Amino acid sequence: MSHQVFISQSDIQQRVKVLADKINADFQGKELVVICVLNGAFMFCADLVREINLPVVMEFIKASSYGSGTVSSGKITLDLGFQGELKNKHILVVEDIVDTGLTLTKLFEMIKHESPASLKLASLLFKPARNKHKVPIDYLGFEIEDHFVIGYGLDYDGKFRELPYIGIYQGEVNE
Ligand code: IMP
Repeated sequence: MSHQVFISQSDIQQRVKVLADKINADFQGKELVVICVLNGAFMFCADLVREINLPVVMEFIKASSYGSGTVSSGKITLDLGFQGELKNKHILVVEDIVDTGLTLTKLFEMIKHESPASLKLASLLFKPARNKHKVPIDYLGFEIEDHFVIGYGLDYDGKFRELPYIGIYQGEVNE
């Protein structure tokens, strides 16, 4: 199945570079703990950290809320699968998309308990139409309309994550 390109590979790359430049300037002289929210953020995070020229410790967290549909189930599972010390560290959470905001709200609560020195969020996409839980996005790639998007890490039912661009899902929707 082919998908119409919604945000092209080169537009993504340019934007990632702009975000990384801001992060490099904001955290100059500091070490950063980058927490990649799996699965969706794997590609964005991999590209972003390659443009970051600060010392970085990478951590990964697994979040899921969708099952096989296109609407968040409202039940978030978060697996803090790392033992890394976050106390007094500068944390940058990297997410693919903020939709309702529930995932990030829960994750931020968990991280704040660890008393980090600072906590910032980089998200490739933001869908304001469906946002219920306000999460400040410090480094935002693109604000988009209420489409279900796939590619560049984002999936529908586990598929399309490998696409190098972002497309709008055009198949049958299983809500
Ligand atoms: P939230 O908790 O509703 O903000 O959901 C965030 C998570 O839902 C993201 O990390 C994505 O994995 C997933 N998600 C939200 N919108 C989309 C979409 O348009 N395409 C693919 N996944 C999405």
